[in-house]
Amino acid sequence: MDDQDADTDPWSAMAHEWHRRWGRFAEPAWAAVLDAAALRPGQGVLDVGCGPGDLLVHLTGLGVRVAGIDPAPGMIAVARALAPSADVRAGEASDLPWDDESFDLAIAINALHLAGEAAPALTEMSRVVVPGGHVAIVTWAEAQHNDVDVIARAVAADDGDESAADDEQEAVAGALDRLLAEAGLTAVATGLVETPWEAADDGALVRGVLLGEDPETLADRASVVVTAAAPFRLDDGSYRLRNHLRYAVGCVGARSR
Ligand SMILES: C[S@@+](CC[C@H](N)C(=O)[O-])C[C@H]1O[C@@H](n2cnc3c(N)ncnc32)[C@H](O)[C@@H]1O
Repeated sequence: MDDQDADTDPWSAMAHEWHRRWGRFAEPAWAAVLDAAALRPGQGVLDVGCGPGDLLVHLTGLGVRVAGIDPAPGMIAVARALAPSADVRAGEASDLPWDDESFDLAIAINALHLAGEAAPALTEMSRVVVPGGHVAIVTWAEAQHNDVDVIARAVAADDGDESAADDEQEAVAGALDRLLAEAGLTAVATGLVETPWEAADDGALVRGVLLGEDPETLADRASVVVTAAAPFRLDDGSYRLRNHLRYAVGCVGARSR
């Protein structure tokens, strides 16, 4: 991948590491969403922004028909290897290459920024879901709910980026509700779910928190990360960060033909 590709696709290069360090991080949110959607074996699920495919693997084990889409070739390669029976395609959330009413549930986890990308994506996700089916969006909760943000702010402050510390808290819950309503979906469940993240030692902490950074940056920032993470360090030298995701599940109504 050349530098320009790396700018437009920062995800491909970190596909394996994402799978290893963050791949099942959202698991408690998966459970909340699948429960709200009352998913049954034999139904079809599309994971939008599927990344390296950890959710696809989980869904395959539930006996559902599984598909995923992601724009990053590196992510797609890992997802196809991990979930060979899934229909994994390259593409964007705003232009899904499936027919209308192909799935019972379309879900996007930490894949859509709440501004801009999410509204057209939700419209498209609704299109490929059958009436009575569900569309779900999961995203990071507001910073005050996330230990990892304590560390991110320390790193930003060390960079001289004080604006990161002054940012107003984004009202994620309100944004999710609004997005569902704007897409014509009836909210059936919304919530905040705790999603802890663990690292075995200092090295795993630094590589996980600074995923995607080059080796020089990792070495430069390691002490800032370890110092900021001190409150989350356990007696055995490992770390446990309490973070949260917010989710919203909407039901697709009948379509006028
Ligand atoms: C933080 S990762 C999350 C991956 C996976 N959903 C998970 O929970 O582990 C974000 C993913 O969204 C993908 N992505 C970015 N922009 C996207 C878009 N416009 N449509 C679909 N996926 C997108 C990235 O390529 C990346 O794989």
